[in-house]
Amino acid sequence: MKQLATGRINDHIHVAGNPYYPGYVMRGREKSLMIEAGMNLMGPLYMKDVSTILGDSQKLDFLFVTHSHYDHLGAAPYLKRMIPGLGLGAHERVSALMRKDSVIAMMNRLSDVQRGFFKDITADEDVTITTMETEHILKDGDEIDLGGLTCHVYEVPGHTKDSLAFYFPEIRTIFAGEAAGLPEGKEGNGIQACFLTSYDDYLASLEKIISLQPQYLCLGHGCVLTDDDAADFIRSSLAATPAFRTLIESYLDQANSDIEQATLTMVRKEYDERGVIKQERNAYLTNLSAQIRLVAGMKS
Ligand SMILES: [Fe+2]
Repeated sequence: MKQLATGRINDHIHVAGNPYYPGYVMRGREKSLMIEAGMNLMGPLYMKDVSTILGDSQKLDFLFVTHSHYDHLGAAPYLKRMIPGLGLGAHERVSALMRKDSVIAMMNRLSDVQRGFFKDITADEDVTITTMETEHILKDGDEIDLGGLTCHVYEVPGHTKDSLAFYFPEIRTIFAGEAAGLPEGKEGNGIQACFLTSYDDYLASLEKIISLQPQYLCLGHGCVLTDDDAADFIRSSLAATPAFRTLIESYLDQANSDIEQATLTMVRKEYDERGVIKQERNAYLTNLSAQIRLVAGMKS
């Protein structure tokens, strides 16, 4: 089954925010956890929804983020400000990045571009990103007990160096951010391969996710997949990865290995002309140029 990432998913998972930027709220017998909080402009909506889901926003104990992209952790500083007891959990590299003024300034620039689209959510509130501390440095093998639900941490690099997946064996549910790939196309039936920092690591991480045989796959954006649809998505993601590498190689060949030329042609053909990719154009271009540089480096 495929369902939009919104509202109640099942007894254990509720979504705060909207399907574009879902914040997955898990409630154990003793502790509660939200997974993902992006972007900063979503902050007040997350607060409102967490209050509704938990009865009181201050009952949220943890916020874990899958990786260091602003559309996955941009609202973390706001939520930490509004919920003083909230403990942020992330990879140690995320922790280091979020203490850097230059990183924070870049994230604010990226979100400012979209401020107009979110004015119904932000109103007059200050949701700008600020440096922040990470209370829980998470790494492969960590287990966090919420009471009847245990969050197992897996390192799944390749999309970023700091990508983590969170797996709950009791309910066979995984949250993997873009380490699992993203739906692509008007109906969301295609798959966008999301390797940015390492092609080989990305494939190995997908194999790791497959080996867990999740029943629920909660994607970083868009939807939640269940049973056969979850298995099919991860398997297709594994197939889409070498296919996208081959596509990039063909654009590089046409451009005589000129990375800039290949990037310009590819963004025109694959994004502008096909018109099926929902990601904001600048974000797509930034990611695509990283992917083309990575593939060009593997060719040489
Ligand atoms: Fe990402």
